[in-house]
Amino acid sequence: MMNEKQRLESQQVQTANPSDKKSVKDYSKYFETVYTAPSLKEAKKRGKEEVKYHKDFNIPEEFHGMGNGRKFYIRTYGCQMNEHDTEVMAGIFLGLGYEHTESVEDANVILLNTCAIRENAENKVFGELGHLKHLKKENPDLLIGVCGCMSQEESVVNKILKTYNQVDMIFGTHNIHRLPNILQEAYMSKEMVIEVWSKEGDVIENLPKVRRGNIKAWVNIMYGCDKFCTYCIVPYTRGKERSRRPEDIIQEVRQLAAQGYQEITLLGQNVNAYGKDFEDMKYGLGDLMDEMRKIDIPRVRFTTSHPRDFDDHLIEVLAKGGNLVEHIHLPVQSGSTDVLKIMARKYTREQYLELVRKIKAAIPEATFTTDIIVGYPNETEEQFEETISLYREVGFEAAYTFIYSPREGTPAAKMVDNVPMEVKKERLQRLNAIVNELSAEAMKKYKGQTVEVLVEGESKNNPEILAGYTRKNKLVNFKGPKTAIGKIVSVKVTDAKTWSLNGEMVEELDAVEVKQ
Ligand code: SAH
Ligand code: SF4
Ligand code: F3S
Repeated sequence: MMNEKQRLESQQVQTANPSDKKSVKDYSKYFETVYTAPSLKEAKKRGKEEVKYHKDFNIPEEFHGMGNGRKFYIRTYGCQMNEHDTEVMAGIFLGLGYEHTESVEDANVILLNTCAIRENAENKVFGELGHLKHLKKENPDLLIGVCGCMSQEESVVNKILKTYNQVDMIFGTHNIHRLPNILQEAYMSKEMVIEVWSKEGDVIENLPKVRRGNIKAWVNIMYGCDKFCTYCIVPYTRGKERSRRPEDIIQEVRQLAAQGYQEITLLGQNVNAYGKDFEDMKYGLGDLMDEMRKIDIPRVRFTTSHPRDFDDHLIEVLAKGGNLVEHIHLPVQSGSTDVLKIMARKYTREQYLELVRKIKAAIPEATFTTDIIVGYPNETEEQFEETISLYREVGFEAAYTFIYSPREGTPAAKMVDNVPMEVKKERLQRLNAIVNELSAEAMKKYKGQTVEVLVEGESKNNPEILAGYTRKNKLVNFKGPKTAIGKIVSVKVTDAKTWSLNGEMVEELDAVEVKQ
């Protein structure tokens, strides 16, 4: 474990000159011996240090005006957590005086907020870095930065140092609040600035946020993950579980409600572990959701749930309904107890089914969606078929499905794998056919029914049509007046497709009336 001095040292901005090969080599040696970041090995450690809460984030005065006359662009990859981090970084940029732009050509700072979950996610980022190189030639004052989960991997940092010298700065998921300092350093040094802390520690409150849209909002309730599923990089890139204090979350949601937001999604990698790290009280996701019910906002969701920590109190609270929606995203990953064991998911097929039964008994209206990985190392045909049978048994209405992708540094990456890629691809296709079949079936049931839709805007393909989502997260396209955007309306479903519903607006519902 790091002592305070090492921790402070590891938190200093470090620079390296990527055009100087010798310096790169020396630099990485320096990194391994003196600094602990970025290091997946270090990131794996779970210390007993108390989580510190900083309630008073402010952009230091010396940085005010840094962005005057400059524009920023952020491209986001990966999950909602990253999307939300982008909103925080956008808030910091605006606080520094930068303007937002949607065009890389127009930008003075380009950030790629990256995802490390699968190899193809990483390849997209490397591809994009390649595309951006010419901009750097045209505009030498441009700053290009890489942040997000890939920055936490030493292999990525080394690859960027070696091959992508168009990059000016790399910073990690624990360093977002340090963006002003990092930018300043990048302007001053004109060498690659790297600031990646492998050890998280603190929860920073009062971060500025520029939310995308004013209808739906994400609210972090916890950071990190301690589950260490054997395939997954997230516990290494996001650090240990740290929960925000309930009062800070409640205050943020109340403010969003007062601003007119209609839907909140509470975010965490493993929201069911919310509160487990509090030493001074027993407080869990069920307690938090009970508070959310009392807030005057039409819909509250949460993601992502881990089946293992989904407790009875939470089910009891969700069953009270109101603004707590009856859609649960509950990643199962596999239907085979043996595979689940190798994945270290810490539940069996039977336990998962039992949990679903319990939720359905308490909330008969509940619908389920899930995440599934196919082609886990040595997955047999029978084990894969168990996933298919579980999928049907639960009656999932949608799923994110993935082919297993080895992630360097995780235990699964070291496993010998006898499943050829063609077999994995074929399994994914078979599974997706069933996912489509069950989604189409679920959609058909809505035909003729009237559903409650939160209208988000014009449909992507046709500006004459409006689009929104039901409480159960079904996409609905319908004819209606533009004044309905941002409101909850009643829509009669006239047609059901595999992934969406078509309909006609019946009436506008008063948001207060909808909340029972
Ligand atoms: N915290 C969330 C998952 C975040 S990652 C949870 O536990 O549910 C989102 C999904 O990506 C996972 O549910 C899993 O299905 C998939 N995934 C994670 N690591 C993967 C890997 N190495 N290969 C393929 N899919 C992976
Ligand atoms: Fe990854 Fe498992 Fe944590 Fe989800 S619970 S983020 S899959 S380690
Ligand atoms: Fe990707 Fe990091 Fe999210 S790896 S899925 S962006 S937590």
